[in-house]
Amino acid sequence: MSKGRVFSGVQPTGNLHLGNYLGAIKNWVGLQQDHETIYCIVDLHAITVPQQPQLLKKATQEVAACLIASGIDTNNSILFNQSQVSQHAELAWLFNCVARLGWLNRMTQFKEKAGKNRENATVGLYAYPTLMAADILAYKATHVPVGDDQKQHLELTRDIATAFNSMFGEEFFPLPEPVIQKTAARIMSLRDGSSKMSKSDDSDFTRINLNDEDDLIAQKIKKAKTDPEPLPETVEELENRPEARNLVGIYAALTNQSDAEVLVEFSGQGFGKFKPILAESLIGSISPIRTEMNKLLADTNHLDNVLSEGSKRAAVIAEPILRACKNVMGFVQSTS
Ligand code: TYM
Repeated sequence: MSKGRVFSGVQPTGNLHLGNYLGAIKNWVGLQQDHETIYCIVDLHAITVPQQPQLLKKATQEVAACLIASGIDTNNSILFNQSQVSQHAELAWLFNCVARLGWLNRMTQFKEKAGKNRENATVGLYAYPTLMAADILAYKATHVPVGDDQKQHLELTRDIATAFNSMFGEEFFPLPEPVIQKTAARIMSLRDGSSKMSKSDDSDFTRINLNDEDDLIAQKIKKAKTDPEPLPETVEELENRPEARNLVGIYAALTNQSDAEVLVEFSGQGFGKFKPILAESLIGSISPIRTEMNKLLADTNHLDNVLSEGSKRAAVIAEPILRACKNVMGFVQSTS
């Protein structure tokens, strides 16, 4: 991946889970080494579905603690919450006047989240992807590390950037590249290998939360759905075994191996052997994050200050980009 500016975001809706960690955050941490990195807690996205004010505040602080505990270094990366940088919402309006209804009508996330009662969904839920495009393009970000489920939104971001550039006759916005991991791009539910691990699933046993206690992690893995066959020799043989493939993928991502390498180690072994080793590896990764997160949550004023400092640094980048964008669109602006 060539050097560039990295931007990504996560919603403050409930606890972060293993899918967020392996699909996105682990990658965010690694990219800090040699890239300019900007990470955002997207609270304006969270209110596209009903929120309670006290819970929104708590979830924002929890996600901030979780990101720092996972290794986001706020002396280096910019970490902030979206609503403190007004350029996101303003640019999103400009993009609402570039994006086409037909493009938004194709978005699968809207269809899933709105469900059958589409008439009752908020306008914000429908326009969600134009705000996401604004998040990324307010910084002219070139690389966006995400899980596989965000691919379609990234394609829409590129469509908006392309349309903007052709409407206003300049190569104004870069076309950002998704950065999606090979392993762990889509971590599945522990109870159903055909549905994504998600914060919104009613059953807590479908996911591992980053603040789960060690015993609970072990219990969840013990109860995870599997099949009676031992682990096979090749990745192809996992194709029709979604639950087995998911657990192998989780172990591979945790231990920085490919699925094939994991199978070299475990082929022929049953889940009775594999699951305790997987649980131990999960506990090894999650337990230090949970401990650090709890320490950080003891001082929420400090967390609020970190986010407000990050917001100031983010605005320094976004403000001149928005100003230049409004300039090419023909808005009259003060010169100061
Ligand atoms: P969100 O909050 O749903 O998820 C945050 C990140 O975690 C990834 N992820 C997963 N990866 C693998 N397996 C899973 N089961 C899994 N569940 C979640 C997501 O792909 C994501 O990378 N719309 C975004 C937030 C957003 C954003 C942005 C992202 C807003 N603006 C700009 C990038 C750039 C979302 O709802 O992510």
